[in-house]
This record gives sequence, structure tokens and C-alpha cells, in this order.
Amino acid sequence: MQISFETFLDTGPAFRSGLPAAVYTDPDFHALENRTVFRSNWVFAGFSHEQERPGDLRPVTIAGQPILLARDESGNLRAYHNACRHRGLKLVETPANHGRLIRCPYHSWAYALDGTLKAAPYFCGRNQTPPESFPVDELGLIPIRCETWHDWVFVNLDGQAPPLDEHVAPLRRQLGALPLDDLKPVATLEFGTVRTNWKALMENFIEPYHVQFVHRTTTDQPLVSHSTVLDEHCLGSKCDIDDGAAGTGKNTLAVSSRFLTLFPNFVLGTYAPNQVGVHLNTPDGVARTHQKRVIYVHREAVLSEQEIEQTRKLWYEVHKEDHEMCERLQLGRLSRSVAEGGLLSPYWEDSVRRFQELLVESVAPATE
Ligand code: FES
Ligand SMILES: [Fe+2]
Repeated sequence: MQISFETFLDTGPAFRSGLPAAVYTDPDFHALENRTVFRSNWVFAGFSHEQERPGDLRPVTIAGQPILLARDESGNLRAYHNACRHRGLKLVETPANHGRLIRCPYHSWAYALDGTLKAAPYFCGRNQTPPESFPVDELGLIPIRCETWHDWVFVNLDGQAPPLDEHVAPLRRQLGALPLDDLKPVATLEFGTVRTNWKALMENFIEPYHVQFVHRTTTDQPLVSHSTVLDEHCLGSKCDIDDGAAGTGKNTLAVSSRFLTLFPNFVLGTYAPNQVGVHLNTPDGVARTHQKRVIYVHREAVLSEQEIEQTRKLWYEVHKEDHEMCERLQLGRLSRSVAEGGLLSPYWEDSVRRFQELLVESVAPATE
């Protein structure tokens, strides 16, 4: 793989280029991202409310690796490499409650929820009890740095990222007084696999340029009401419109909003008066991304089944409109004619530009 960033970095032209197309289509580049971007940053991995009881386990994939999120007996969420220390079997395949022990189905090694190895039956012969020389203390599940901010679980594979508080600070700043503590999840939309590179979905969320064209029937947020947000690694856009005009009875989105991200993959949107959506984009290879969205409202809000269903339907349609564009973007980028990255609007896509610069900065140490 030899991808040149020369055109992307060239400050000469009046209109700057986006990232080269190969960054979205080359499996080797995706492998590089897995060794860099998804190792060195806080990566959004899951929703805390989906595993509330001790023993609730959830397998996830981060940086192409099997990882296990586990609620321990003290109520903390922990992350481990999801591989048995005996011969490496993937320990947990589907989300479920496993009680107090995580038992490998192959030769029955068993781990406590704090990761310690509790049993390795008959490993040293016919006797159940291993000899003292067996290094039981060294054979626990290998932990990964994991922290939760409100309902959102983040992991940092290399353990070197700044504290999570620092990471979320610019997003917190952009959200102002929004009471994140008071949110409750009311619906989850599972989109499964979208046939596009993860960055296409992130960039699509960050830029407001497409909204009035792609979401013509589902939203009513004119382009002139939007502006972009660039606050350190918190990127996105905001839309301020007269909320008095909202609630016209049309089943569309016609309210002031914040569309914000944290590099690399955390996405949070606020939709006045009090709805928040968070979506999780998990790469599954260079041209496939799993996506799901959780919708939150204020904990005191009382919504009827019908209102929740209407909200789900609206967001399902909005996402599908975005998916179609992102999947076609993926296909178009196989054309040699856009190999150098196309053009970015200096006004509406400066936030995308910053996202792309962060990406280049994140992979740079591995390419020097
Ligand atoms: S691979 Fe897990 S017990 Fe053998
Ligand atoms: Fe969109």
C-alpha cells in the first residue's frame, strides 16, 4: 500500500481536496487504522444500559479484535480481550448473562467477572487441582482500559489516551447545560451492516451540506440555519431555527439541533426540545460498518407507544437516506477519477476537513 497525502496536504489550491479515495477502500489502510486510530484513542464501544446486571456480558469488535464488555460484581463495566488464555477460543459469542463465571466451552477454563482464572480442570493431569507451579495469577483475562461516561462505554486499547474526562470536555462544552444525567433510553434502532467505510458515515454526520438535499422529505432544517462546529476533536454542525415553528403536525424534523461527534467514532445529536440520539458505528472491514442508534428522552417525559413508534420511524427513514448516499459514495470511490479525493466545501465541510486531518495525524506515527 502506498497512499500519498500530497494532494490532501497541499495548501496551494483555493479549494482543498478530501482524503484520497484509497483511504476508504484499501484493506491495508483499514488494517493500519486498526493499529493506530482504534488503538490510541478512546473508542466508543457500547451502551451501559444494555448490560446492567452483574454477569451481563457483551462481545464487541474494536480495531478488528474480539473484545468483551463485562459488568462485574461491584457494578463496574470492565473490558477484556475476548479470548481464552488456554488456546485462544473466543469466549463469548452473543450478549447474555453468564452469572458469576465466564466459562470457556472448549476445555472448561473458568474466569471470574474480575478476570481472574478460577478453574483449569485437569490441565496438569487427572488431578483437578493444579500444582503450585501453575501460574494461575498470570492467566486471567487480559484487561483493557474501559470507562463509562453517562450511558456510553469507551475503551482505549493502548492505555495511553488522556483521561476520558479530557476527551469528552469539548463535547460537554458544546452541549452547554443539556442534562445528560436525566436521559433515559426509549428506543434502539439496529441497522445491521451498512456497506460503506466507517469514515463515510462519520463525515456524513459531521457535515450539514447534504441535509436539505438528502433529507428533503424527512427534515425541515434549511441550510442557512446551519453552521459547522470545530472544537478540538469535537466536530459536527448545529442548526438554530425558530422552535416556535416546530410541531407543525408534519412528521418531520424541524427543530434546533446539534450534530456532534468525538473523534474517532462517537456520535451524539440533540433535537430540541429534549431528544438525544447516540449512534455507534463499528467498522467491520474496510467497506462494512455496523450501525445502531439509541434514542433518549428526558427521564420524566411520558411518551406513548405511538409517539415512540413515530420517532423510530422518522429516524429509520433519515438513516436509510444517509445509508444510500454513503453506500454510493463507497462505490464511486472505486473510480480512478476521484482517486485524489474530490473537493471539500471550505464553508460547509471544514469540519469534515478537520476530521480527516485528525485521521492523518492518528495514522502518521505508524507511517513515518
Ligand atoms: S481454549 Fe478455552 S479452555 Fe481450552
Ligand atoms: Fe444525513
